[in-house]
Amino acid sequence: MFIHETANMEKLTHKKVLVAGATGGIGSNTAKLLQSGGVQLYLTGRNAGKLHALADSLSVPRHRVFVLDLTDEPAVQDMASAIEADAGSLDVLVNAAGLGIIKPIDQLSSAEFMMTLQANLLAGFLLVKSFLPPMKANGKGLIINIPGVLGKVPMAGAAAYSASKYGLVGMMQSIREELKRTNVRITNIFLGGVDSPFWDEIDLRVQKDKMIRPEEAARAIWFLCQQPESGVVSEMVLQPFNHQAI
Ligand SMILES: NC(=O)c1ccc[n+]([C@@H]2O[C@H](COP(=O)([O-])OP(=O)(O)OC[C@H]3O[C@@H](n4cnc5c(N)ncnc54)[C@H](OP(=O)(O)O)[C@@H]3O)[C@@H](O)[C@H]2O)c1
Repeated sequence: MFIHETANMEKLTHKKVLVAGATGGIGSNTAKLLQSGGVQLYLTGRNAGKLHALADSLSVPRHRVFVLDLTDEPAVQDMASAIEADAGSLDVLVNAAGLGIIKPIDQLSSAEFMMTLQANLLAGFLLVKSFLPPMKANGKGLIINIPGVLGKVPMAGAAAYSASKYGLVGMMQSIREELKRTNVRITNIFLGGVDSPFWDEIDLRVQKDKMIRPEEAARAIWFLCQQPESGVVSEMVLQPFNHQAI
């Protein structure tokens, strides 16, 4: 599939883009769309089998594929060094990694709370810390995060998840202030429920058929990757039509 870029949008061809969480529902679909637009793609995920299968299907060479846990600081730094050696600075960093533990506070352990903060907040911090310096040196770059609507409006049972996503939003807004005099831009996309493996372990009655398709979520991210350099989409909200909470 090839989707033509729209006039006045940034051309994706040869742009260097890292998709973190490329093994996930949103990340894998984003990677497919970006590849079809001629992007020089870098992929990371934890599940080696899934990641390599995706990379092979998209003809992404192995030296641009990184199996790692994004909460492992040295591993993230090593990946950033390898990508910098291969590409210089990234044009776009898409952080599509994360996890959801949704349960009432009396069933939520402190280990689950910390695991959520690490995957959804610390990983975002480590990615920005590692990839920002070359972006600043290069005088441009775009960082796209996916806090989800639970990073804007809380839901019962989402104490850990909302803490991590509100934290991600606050952290990114603060970093955005630091970057005011640079051309490095930050976009947060607030997605409502997306029908992805994210929900597989969550003990909640959800209507998956009413959710956003992962392909549609990916298309929104693909669109954001092309935003013209003259401005920035600071926030985008995309929700299932009949679940409009904000
Ligand atoms: N699905 C939704 O309804 C929804 C709505 C709003 C926002 N979001 C956010 O969108 C992002 C992607 O979600 P998704 O729906 O695509 O979920 P998903 O299908 O479950 O994918 C999650 C991805 O995150 C990766 N990941 C998790 N923890 C990691 C860690 N410690 N280190 C490295 N990678 C890690 C997974 O890697 P492996 O599979 O290789 O382990 C996988 O690639 C998440 O941040 C999620 O919070 C999702």
